Amino acid sequence: MPTLVIIGAQWGDEAKGKLVDVLGAEADLVVRYSGGNNAGHTVITGGQEFKFHLIPAGILHPDTTAIVGSGMVVCPKGLLEELDRTRSQKSELGTLLISSAAHVVFPYHRMLDSLEEEARGANRIGTTSRGIGPAYQDKVARIGIRMGEFVDPEVFPTRLADIIQVKNRMLAMFGKEPLDFQALLTEYQAYAERLRPFVVDTDPVVQDAVYGGKRVLFEGAQGTFLDLDSGTYPYVTSSHPTAGGATIGTGIGPRMIDSVLGVCKAYTTRVGSGPFPTELLDDVGEWIRQHGKEYGTTTGRGRRCGWLDLVMLRQSCRLNSLSGLVVTRLDILSGFETVKVCTGYQLDGKTIDYVPANTFEFERVEPVYTEMPGWSGDLRVCRKPEDLPSEARSYLKFMEEFTQTPATILSVGPDRAETMVVRPDLIWG
Ligand code: IMP
Repeated sequence: MPTLVIIGAQWGDEAKGKLVDVLGAEADLVVRYSGGNNAGHTVITGGQEFKFHLIPAGILHPDTTAIVGSGMVVCPKGLLEELDRTRSQKSELGTLLISSAAHVVFPYHRMLDSLEEEARGANRIGTTSRGIGPAYQDKVARIGIRMGEFVDPEVFPTRLADIIQVKNRMLAMFGKEPLDFQALLTEYQAYAERLRPFVVDTDPVVQDAVYGGKRVLFEGAQGTFLDLDSGTYPYVTSSHPTAGGATIGTGIGPRMIDSVLGVCKAYTTRVGSGPFPTELLDDVGEWIRQHGKEYGTTTGRGRRCGWLDLVMLRQSCRLNSLSGLVVTRLDILSGFETVKVCTGYQLDGKTIDYVPANTFEFERVEPVYTEMPGWSGDLRVCRKPEDLPSEARSYLKFMEEFTQTPATILSVGPDRAETMVVRPDLIWG
């Protein structure tokens, strides 16, 4: 029953896609469990670049089954575009299955996402405008349409007819024209027709695989501090990117997880609004953004950049019960005389060593830094930890000791080859 959950240990964009691609080769099933096409996973292999938003990156392995899990919200149009694009890039792909319990994202969700953001004014969250929040709102309000209903030709028209009335009233409140029911139905029936063969009850598929001793990889999206409950609320996404989400969004229980790997950058980034104590609003931050090409895969927005926050990372290790860390982008930090890591916060004259749940407090904290010698040279040529400059190795050791979590895999570049497995024993538990 080897099962592995891969999560983002920070605010997303930690290069999970690459890791899922590398480890997906060893998995029978790769299952995504939360979010929707707000995520952006890039995989570079054999000189080709693949971009995924909804489909698990594991689809690139022909012997793997890639599952869009029940905890997700699915934009049918986006999914079909992604499928067509991936098929045009590679003929041999794994099998795709979509959970009949996943919720459908409709155009009214996207419209309301933008309208609600606009109405928030200075308090805007900085969402990806993909309709993710409004789709999860419908799920919680128990008025959402699930994939199983969507692909059922008898059920879908009546479900849409009911909900469109509610949505048109909401759009009217924002001064917007109502949506045309027939046009929307016709467009979405065409998507449903194409997606029907992929939609099944995936929970039993995952359960059979787990209980049947197959290798199952659960692919997280976004990052720990974007989690609806554990993140920097309200500047979060509307789902559960933490390891716990893997059990909520796929049909298995917590005892079925053998290993959890948390992917983190050697520094910190964030897209969208919200507190970010170690953010660098100076030349150093700009240098990291340019050097690290820190622009969003989904929205193209420049990411906010800052020093590594070890207080957050340690909290993430505990929240997700991490077996190990996967440290990416040490290569980008190359060239600084000294580097800093945050090891505590000053809050109202006191030192604290945790992320306060109250975001207004978190906005006020001042980072306490430990400064360390930097390193130089091209780290992308390193193939084993001993090849790394000694200062980079000391940096890693400090991270491990502070977080009490071993560095299991190191990534020093976007290609599959630029990966060092340090602790193979911790990967599949
Ligand atoms: P939403 O998920 O589109 O509602 O956006 C809520 C917040 O999560 C915003 O700050 C987004 O920038 C952020 N977010 C959502 N998905 C990702 C991701 O895949 N990577 C990084 N940030 C994300």
